[in-house]
Amino acid sequence: MTVGFSGDVAEYYAKFRRGYPPQALDALQTAFALTTDDIVLDLGCGTGQLAVPLASRVGSVIGMDPEPDMLRLARDTAARHDVRNATWVLGADSDVPALSELMGQRSLAMAVIGQALHWMDHGELFRALSPLIRPGGGIAVVANGTPLWLQDDEWSRSLRACLEDYFGTKLEASCGTGASDRLRYGQALEAAGFEGVREIVIEYSDELSFDQLIGGVYSAIPADELPEPDARPAFAERIRQSLPPDQYFTEDVAVSVLVGRLR
Ligand SMILES: C[S@@+](CC[C@H](N)C(=O)[O-])C[C@H]1O[C@@H](n2cnc3c(N)ncnc32)[C@H](O)[C@@H]1O
Repeated sequence: MTVGFSGDVAEYYAKFRRGYPPQALDALQTAFALTTDDIVLDLGCGTGQLAVPLASRVGSVIGMDPEPDMLRLARDTAARHDVRNATWVLGADSDVPALSELMGQRSLAMAVIGQALHWMDHGELFRALSPLIRPGGGIAVVANGTPLWLQDDEWSRSLRACLEDYFGTKLEASCGTGASDRLRYGQALEAAGFEGVREIVIEYSDELSFDQLIGGVYSAIPADELPEPDARPAFAERIRQSLPPDQYFTEDVAVSVLVGRLR
């Protein structure tokens, strides 16, 4: 199964998508008292934005994703960082129940889902994860800011208008990053028996060059809609012309870490 993160999209994702600030990893570690004895699952791990930096904080990380190209790049990144305690598993949310066979007597300390829950059946997933997680452990739903074209800034509004014009469609989906998404996910965590549901938000600002901005856009376009390589210069120029004539674009990033624990 693939949901459009294959080929060049995966490459753009690895190169241009933001990682997470250390405070987000601290929040995960604190919420579930993670130790180097623990096993954690990063579901929808992509190119390893969470799995790779988590590895040094726990005993073992399972990075799971249905897109082989994303997993391959996650594995490459882990190798570059000399991470030796990560296992990369090709699988989707619907494969989570099979993990209990793999885990035997062991439990997960945490299942983290970063920027990926909107692709999954979250209610079903939370129920499937519950028997796999140790007491005091839990689930974390992480959102890494707002899509580049939905931010409250002039450059972002211009980008959105240009993309809507190019693709001939309204771009309204928050990809699981909106306040109403978090409310829904929080309620579903409680319904699945997770307690102490709360959100930790880490905010910071950063500058994006135009190349970073366009790379971020490419990383978010489904693979079958990505302009062909020879059409990308014209696509990029069209976006460049639509944006304010700045060299850098300020992005205000709010990373949301929604956690729920098992007693
Ligand atoms: C936007 S990326 C997020 C990558 C990374 N977790 C992050 O925080 O940046 C979404 C990932 O979810 C994966 N994905 C899509 N559908 C999925 C599913 N049903 N189960 C698990 N992962 C899925 C995609 O292949 C992709 O790698």
